[in-house]
Amino acid sequence: HIQAVIFDLDGVICDTAHFHFIAWKRLADHLGIAFSETDNEQMKGVDRLNSLEMILKLGGQQRSAAEKQALCDRKNADYQTLIAEMSPADVFPGVQDILATLKVRDISVGVASASKNAPAILQRLGLDRAFAYVADSSLIKNNKPDPEIFLTVAAALEVAPAHCVGIEDAAAGVTAIKAAGMRAIGIGDAEVLHQADMIFPTTDKIDLIRMLS
Ligand code: G6P
Ligand code: MG
Repeated sequence: HIQAVIFDLDGVICDTAHFHFIAWKRLADHLGIAFSETDNEQMKGVDRLNSLEMILKLGGQQRSAAEKQALCDRKNADYQTLIAEMSPADVFPGVQDILATLKVRDISVGVASASKNAPAILQRLGLDRAFAYVADSSLIKNNKPDPEIFLTVAAALEVAPAHCVGIEDAAAGVTAIKAAGMRAIGIGDAEVLHQADMIFPTTDKIDLIRMLS
């Protein structure tokens, strides 16, 4: 039976996936590269530098390592301005109810986000003490779709992967959860997340009975 639930952050707990898109879109405009929400789907769950690489590839552009670092810093500064005003009101509907139910059932909860901004966001949302373990993405060597981050959180929670559920809005994230040997819950578009075991359009639509049984 399920003993742990491991949440992605951006796009599962709050709407920061949209802020990531806005910040990348502005950077793409700055670089003169066409970039759409469809392109962005493939970048969800992908770390900062690899996301930039994907945009440069779309535009057929190349940059030095130092230039790429500067572009990543520019995007992150823009992103941090966008998230600066976040508050507990920005926690997606349904999240608090899910956390309360899991607590009653004694099911452990963790966060597996590729974002280096995750701890700051959880703090702004008032959720910094809500999870037993939050992965430090700077210590993860292999990014999603590799299962490392989900396996790291499961190990920290001391729960075998077969008894874990992972919740993701990103195709790369769902792939990572499945590769970890966990049950995968997709939040969003069924076409994008077809590898998931169950798909719900938004976090508040999660059927907890189905997810945990
Ligand atoms: C998450 C988001 C990605 C983002 C990545 C890195 O995985 O889904 O869109 O690129 O985190 O976030 P960061 O805040 O470290 O740039
Ligand atoms: Mg996400």
